[in-house]
Formats: sequence, C-alpha cells, structure tokens
Amino acid sequence: MINFKDKIAALLVETVKGISETEIRDMIEIPTDSKMGDYAFPCFKLAKLLRKAPPIIAQGIAEKLQGNEIFDKVESVNAYVNMFLSRNLFMKELVSGVAEQRDNYGSTNIGNGRKVIVEFSSPNIAKPFHIGHIRSTVIGNAIHKIYEFLGYDTIRINHLGDYGTQFGKMIVSYRHWGNEEDVIREPIKTLLGYYVKFHEEAEKNPALEDEARDVFTKLENGEAEEVKLWQWFRDESLKEFNRVYEMLGIEFDSYAGESFYSDRLDSVVNMLKDADLLRESEGAQIVDLEEHGMPPALITKKDGSSLYITRDIAAAVYRKEHYDFYKNLYVVASQQNLHFQQWIKIIELLGYDWAKDCVHIPFGLVSLEEGTMSTRQGRVVFLEDVLTRAVEQTKDIILEKNVNTDNLDVTAKQVGIGAVIFQELSNNRIKDYVFSWDKVLNFDGETGPYVQYTHARAASVLRNGGESVNQALAESEQANMDYITGDTAYELAKLIYRFPEIVIEAGEKYEPSIVTRHIVDIAQVFNKFYHDEHILVQDEEEKKAKLLLVFAAKQTIQNGLQLLGIEAPERM
Ligand code: ARG
Repeated sequence: MINFKDKIAALLVETVKGISETEIRDMIEIPTDSKMGDYAFPCFKLAKLLRKAPPIIAQGIAEKLQGNEIFDKVESVNAYVNMFLSRNLFMKELVSGVAEQRDNYGSTNIGNGRKVIVEFSSPNIAKPFHIGHIRSTVIGNAIHKIYEFLGYDTIRINHLGDYGTQFGKMIVSYRHWGNEEDVIREPIKTLLGYYVKFHEEAEKNPALEDEARDVFTKLENGEAEEVKLWQWFRDESLKEFNRVYEMLGIEFDSYAGESFYSDRLDSVVNMLKDADLLRESEGAQIVDLEEHGMPPALITKKDGSSLYITRDIAAAVYRKEHYDFYKNLYVVASQQNLHFQQWIKIIELLGYDWAKDCVHIPFGLVSLEEGTMSTRQGRVVFLEDVLTRAVEQTKDIILEKNVNTDNLDVTAKQVGIGAVIFQELSNNRIKDYVFSWDKVLNFDGETGPYVQYTHARAASVLRNGGESVNQALAESEQANMDYITGDTAYELAKLIYRFPEIVIEAGEKYEPSIVTRHIVDIAQVFNKFYHDEHILVQDEEEKKAKLLLVFAAKQTIQNGLQLLGIEAPERM
C-alpha cells in the first residue's frame, strides 16, 4: 500500500531544495479539520532558507503540486500548503491493500525478529487471582500481541510469586488448622483462609512468626516435608490460575517464577559484593541508594534469607544470559514503582548497559466500591467469579434481546469475557479505576459488545453481498471507488488507513488503549456509514466498491480486537 506521507515528502523534496526528505516528512501535518486537506505542509521554517515570505513559498509549492495524480486538489492558505488526496486513488489503495493483507493488515516488521520479553500476570501462589491481577494479565497479553504484530519475537513469562516467607506462614497454618480435603476441593480459597487465620493467630501469639520463619528456612534448605507441601500448594494454585487463563484465552511460554531463581541468589550476593555495592546494616545486607535519591534496597535479611528484590535481580541477569533480550518488559502495578527503580538502578550500578532495556510498565490501582482490596482481610473479588458472572449475564441479555447467534454458549463467552477485557483496555493504563459490575456489563456505549456487534453487522452485510464480495476482493485493484462519494465513507477509509500507525504508536507507548479507542472510532464511523448509505445497491460496480470498504472495516476491527485478546464473532 502506498504510504501517502512518504510519497508527499518525496514530491516536496523535489520542489524545495536544501532540506532533507526526512525533515520534510516530519514537517507534514494532518489537519484536525479535514476542510484544510488530508495533509498540510507549513512553510514558516523555510522562510530563512529560501529568503521568501512563507505564503509566497506555500503558493509556489501548491502550484507545482497541482495536477499530480495523487491529489484531487492542492491549495495554499497563508503559510500552508493544503493537500487533498485523490479519493478514488486513496480508497482503492486502501481497500485493495486490506483485501491482500487480511489478518496481517496493520502488522509491520519494525521488530525484525528482535527478542522482547513480556512479563505479565505473575500472581502469587496460594493467593487469590483477583480482579487486581486482571490488569497485568490483560494489558500484558495485549502488549505481547502488539509486539508480535510489529515483528518482534516475544516471550511471555509468568513470574509466579511462588517463593518467600509467606510460604512458611501457610505451611504453619495448614499444619495447625488445615486439612487435605479442603485444599483439594477449593485450593486457593482454603489456602487464603490459612493465611488470614495465620495473621489473626499471630497477633495473639507472636511465637507463630518465629515458627513460620523456621519453616521457611527449611523450605529454602530443601527439606523434603516442606518442599512437598510447597509443591502441592503450587500445583493446586496453578490449576486454578490455568482455569482463568483458559477462559481469557491466554498462554505463557514460561512459568519460571521467583522460586526458579533460588539457586542463583548467592551469585547475586557475590556479584554485589565484588562490585563493592553491599553494606551491612543491623545484620542485614543492603545496597545504599541514597545517592540516587532512593531508600536502601534490602538484599538479604539478618537470618540470611533472600528478598523479592534479590530474586528480581537474579531473574533479570538470567534472562539476559538465557534470551539475550532486546527489551525486557514488566507489566506490574504502579505500587511497585520504587521496587523497579531500585533494582534496575542496581543492575546499572553492576555495570550492565542493558539496564536501560529493562522497562517497568506500570498501571493504576483497581479498588472496589467498598474500598481497596486486602488479601489479609479477605476483601477481594475473584477474577474467575467476575468472568463467570459476565458470561451468565451476557447469556441473559442475548436471550432477552433475541440476538441471533451461531451458538449461544460460545457467543455468550466471547462477548461476556470480551466485555471485561475491553473495559480494562479502554482507559490509559496508568489511571486508577473503581471496579463496578454495572460498568463492566453495560452493553451500550463505547464497550466491547458494541464493537463486536458492529463487526458482526459488517459480517452480515458481507454474507448478504454473496458472490459480489468474492469478485470484488479478487479484482480489488480495479475497483472504481468513485462510486463512493459520501464524506462518512472517506472518513472511515482514513481511520482504517491509520490503523498500522496506531499499532506502532500503541507499541511505542506500551498503551493498548490506543488500539481500543481507535477501533471504537472505526466502529462508530462504520455505523454512520451503514445508516447513511445503501450498500447492497442494484448497480454491481457501486455495490462492489461499497462492499470492499465494508470488508476493510470489518477486517480492521477484527485485527484490532485480536490484538487486545478479544474474539470477533461473525454473528450476534
Ligand atoms: N507476584 C507479584 C504480585 O502479585 C508481582 C510480580 C511482579 N514481577 C516482578 N518481576 N517483580 O504483586
């Protein structure tokens, strides 16, 4: 497909001497008001170079561009050259490009096979996979898909929280008050109960804390009984997590969690020692970060046990050795900003230049309408319950509205889960938000179901178009798009044309909501087009031209939803 901005830059460089094509390209603007053209070129900066007044320069350029086949019209308005593309050429380029690229429309190869690690989800063993984890899970999955679409070789890592002193607590609590059947029947809720119980009891009996520490040390030393329990808790928890991942359609390439690095922790301590970064403080080992405006990082405790940060340093070094990543991305809540700043700084102080390639991608907090969540107090919303409820309620809505589906259960799952994912990815990730059932399941407005419904509507038009669609697609390069004259159609075409750039921008900013908002825009303009224009008209050529645009819109919405990890039903 022609890149019109590049093409215009190439034309301009012939008319304006003494300035590079890239500079020119960067100066080209897309006017917010389409009355000022599809592209505009401001001439202020050229005044010095050409020793002429900007409006005179603009006028000269406009005259030279006038008559080029890629434009319908070129005007100069004050210091600007306003360029209106040939609508026929532009739309033909677009629809034939999408017809050719199909599922790949919007993908590029800027990644060139470079390795990008996306670490996301990373729940804690024996703790609930709650609504707070959905953010990391869903944002991380979308970032992975976007990077893959941009030609990177991505690796999805689930850095499970499967290590740490809390396992000592859990085991102690299980031994005092637990039983096997409960754990098997309902692992996480039961284990969480043990954890809550431990804290209640420990308030009355502080000796329990020591007991838990001992048990954890045994676990670290690999004592059979403790390891067995830990392994069992981990397996049971993973079964539950996998149920959620399955519902969301999410997979990982590696589940190397915190415990995976347990035999590399000594080497981290030695590295820090060798680099003269370790200090002793009240029996503990720390890295002083005062010079860098941060509190000290605790590397080992008095009793020699490691910490969360130690394991992150070990993990990053391992990943560099093992994967030789181009980028190592961490999709983790903004509450952990300081933690990431600290350990990435330590990697830098160790002299690793790849510290700059470790990127924390933070996101805002989810709170419940009744306040923030607290694992210790058992105030959580379980993600699995949210998804199940969303699917159930979607089923009711579909039945109530008498919506036509291929299969009620499948569609309810696609739409219900899609709704939850979509609303997660609708706002800038850094924004905090309050989880509310009403909002998740509101099927009007800028929601997942609305976009999915628009997609299904386009699919239905194409079904009704029958053989004309196949013919149009096969001969898309000969399409006569002059039949489509409406401004809405042109606006729709422009939005579809921008999709590849949108994907690049979303990747650069690690911001899937840029894709979400763009497909909402496409859906809205598509619906306007659908209402404004009669699509399945008598005239075969006109019908084909319109069907090609419908096809392009449908394909782009589908590709966008795919990047977000949402299904695009053909009927609903
Ligand atoms: N398990 C942690 C939690 O639930 C998140 C892990 C984040 N990743 C990391 N490399 N520190 O809070």
